[in-house]
Parts: sequence; structure tokens; C-alpha cells
Amino acid sequence: MEFPYASLRRFPDVEAPNLQAWDATDELLVQHALAAGAPGEEISVIGDGYGAITLALADAGYRGIRVHQDLATGRRALARNADELGHRTAGAPETPDDHAHGRRVEARRADEHAEHLGFGTDAAAFTSHELAPDLLSGARLVLLQLPKSLAELEEIADAVARWAAPDVTLIAGGRVKHMTLAQNEILGRSFETVQPQRAERKSRLIVASAPREVPDEPPFPVAERIDVPGLDRPLTVAAHGGAFAGAKLDIGTRVLLEVLAAEGRLRRASLAQPVSSRSARSTSHEPEAQTVVDLGCGTGILAATYALTHPDARVIATDRSASAVASARATMAANGVEAEVTHDDAGSEIPDHSADLILLNPPFHLGSSIHAGAAGRLFEAAARILTPGGVLLTVYNSSLAYRTELTKRIGPTEQLHRTPKFTVTRSIRR
Ligand SMILES: C[S@@+](CC[C@H](N)C(=O)[O-])C[C@H]1O[C@@H](n2cnc3c(N)ncnc32)[C@H](O)[C@@H]1O
Repeated sequence: MEFPYASLRRFPDVEAPNLQAWDATDELLVQHALAAGAPGEEISVIGDGYGAITLALADAGYRGIRVHQDLATGRRALARNADELGHRTAGAPETPDDHAHGRRVEARRADEHAEHLGFGTDAAAFTSHELAPDLLSGARLVLLQLPKSLAELEEIADAVARWAAPDVTLIAGGRVKHMTLAQNEILGRSFETVQPQRAERKSRLIVASAPREVPDEPPFPVAERIDVPGLDRPLTVAAHGGAFAGAKLDIGTRVLLEVLAAEGRLRRASLAQPVSSRSARSTSHEPEAQTVVDLGCGTGILAATYALTHPDARVIATDRSASAVASARATMAANGVEAEVTHDDAGSEIPDHSADLILLNPPFHLGSSIHAGAAGRLFEAAARILTPGGVLLTVYNSSLAYRTELTKRIGPTEQLHRTPKFTVTRSIRR
């Protein structure tokens, strides 16, 4: 029986007709695993976008698969897709209409899925892990959807060579149009044998085996000391492989920090007036924010800079990427900053109307297709989290028409600064 890939959803990630929850690479990786015949307990899956690989293997009867997904959205989608397969299958009713036969067939298939997924049995089909020894120890087959960045691939390849079984085989796959020879080279640093396979359905697998000896310390996180607008001493920035901009200061982030510094928002000051008397147009009389959120914090540069200049503020840094969250935590620790760092989707665990300032440098790439939906979800989140009268400061590529969107979703929005590349706006939550 074919696994019903098309029934998988990306939710809570952005959904659109041109975005699907699985691709041919997932199918090739699953086929390869089925042919390899390793037991589920010896299989680790890394980068399973929305659960297609893990659930197809679970569907084929595998148990004890270990899975690592970087994104909180992917983790939630996998859990939801797993539930949905079990629920749909267990609960599909038989109806006396013309489709009764079809429904009965679907119900039977569903029951089979439920059984395969371990519903009602003790064996868990899969367990979720961070990129850590418990994900990989004893693993003899690792299935990897190639990550976007080479640094992320380097961190994963090192982890597999470091922690998996000595006879591990790593099968890494991707869409041919996104693959580069540099990926082979990175894999070759951790494995003696790297064999790209023939492309199939516009995807290609690379088989890596014979792990090389690893250096004493993992290569990530890396750390750099960088000069940051508004700080009188360098900030130490720590970055794991998957973190946006690595241990560098992104030029958009720099522009936002320059505006914050020019507005006097990065000067130590005490609360000047109550939040309720805030003016929509001026910042000079704005009180210091008490609760500040760095929404989509990456390595945490915005949060760390704000916290260093406002020791009394409560600063929350949040990101959907585990790699970003680990980086931001390391950045906070390296600078002696006390800030909460959470792994979450669009700050969903931050209460409504609880922050008076949000700093936002939204993503404009969704996977590899450009899609405004990813930024839109963060604007929506900002509207929910801000107190009425609260301020959202956003930096974005000047080619994007976000001002109208921000005005619609948040409230009155004015341009504070514009360079040929970047625009910084202030939106006041209505
Ligand atoms: C352009 S980067 C900015 C990172 C950091 N604030 C900086 O300025 O260096 C955008 C960040 O948003 C995060 N992100 C994207 N969608 C998100 C979501 N739904 N929830 C939380 N974070 C998200 C990405 O993982 C990425 O770290």
C-alpha cells in the first residue's frame, strides 16, 4: 500500500497551493531505507520537513525511529500529521451512501495505518531529539534532507561522524536545482566515501560512509566578537550551523540597530512616563519598554544589545529554529545577559498584549521559494503580543511593500529610515 504523502499538511507552517508538505527526495530516502532493511531503532532521520520520511517508515511498520527537525513548525506538523493519520484512520465512519464502499476501504486502510503508527500498542513509531548524541548513538542509517546552508550541513555531518555507529551510512538528498558540489566537499570532510547517485525525478541522493576521525571539539557553535551600533564594547555572537547570518551582523540588523541607537533607544534610561500616555508619533517622550520581544531572534543580537543597554527590561528572544535558539542562548551566556530564549512558532507561547516593544527582522525566504507568508505570520503574532499603544520596529528589504501590510495588521506605521536596500518602520499597535 502506498503511503498517502498527499494527505500530509505543513500546518502550522505557511500553506499555499504551490507549497507541499513532501517532495520526491523524501520518497527516494524512504525507498532507500526500505531497501536497506535496517531496523527502526538503528535509523535516524534529520531534516524531515513535515514528517513525510518518518511517517512513511512508521507506516511501513518501523518502530523506534529517531528524528531531528530544526524548526518548531516542522515538529508541530509531524506531531499533527501523526495524530491525523491515526485519528482519520481510527475514526473514519462507514456511511450508507454511494461512497460506502470507498469509505469502508478508507476505514480499513486507516485502521492499518493506526496499527502501523503504534496507536493502541506500546512501541512508539518515533521519538524526537535535538542534534545531540541521543539522536545518533548506535544509528547505522541516517536519512538527511540536505539543509539550506553549508554550515548547517557541516554541523550535521560532523555530528553523524562523531556520534553514530562506526559503520553508519548517511544518505543525504535534495532537489537537484538546489544542490552544489560544495555539499559533496563538506560531506567529504567527515566521510571517506561520498558517492552522488543518479538523479531521479529532479532529486538526487548522496551516499556517505566510512566516518573520518573527528576533531576533539565539535566545530559549532562558532563565536566572534563584533562591533554593534549602540554598544560601547564588542558583542560576542555565537552561531550554530543553521543560524541566520552565522556569527556575523546582518546588514539589515545593523540598519535596525543604527535606527535604535539614533532614536536613543539603546541608551540606559529609567521609566519616564506610564505606558498609557504614550504618543503615537514621538519616540522622545516614549517610556522605556518593560517587556521587549526579539521575534525571530536568530543568534540573538537584537535581544542581547537591548538587554545590555536596558538591564531592567524583561527581554524575550524567540525563534522557530532550534539552531537559532541554541545560538541565542550561547550569545546571551557569552555576554552575561539575562534574557529568556524560547523555541516556539511565531511567539505562540507569549501571552496576548504582554509586550510593549517588539524588534523584528522578518524572513523573506520561505524554504527556497520567496513567499511573503512567513513575514505575515510574524506581523500577525506581533499584533497579538503587543499591548495597545505598543511599538513594533521592523527592518525589511526596501523592495517589499510591507508598510501597507503593517498598517493593516498592526496600526499606524511610519518610515523611520530608508536606504536603497533596507527600510525601517515603526508601527503603533492600535
Ligand atoms: C532575517 S532572520 C533575523 C534574525 C535576527 N533577528 C537578526 O536580526 O539577526 C529571521 C529569523 O526569523 C526566524 N523565523 C522565521 N519564521 C519564524 C516563525 N514562524 N517563528 C519564529 N521565528 C521565525 C528565522 O528562523 C530567522 O532566525
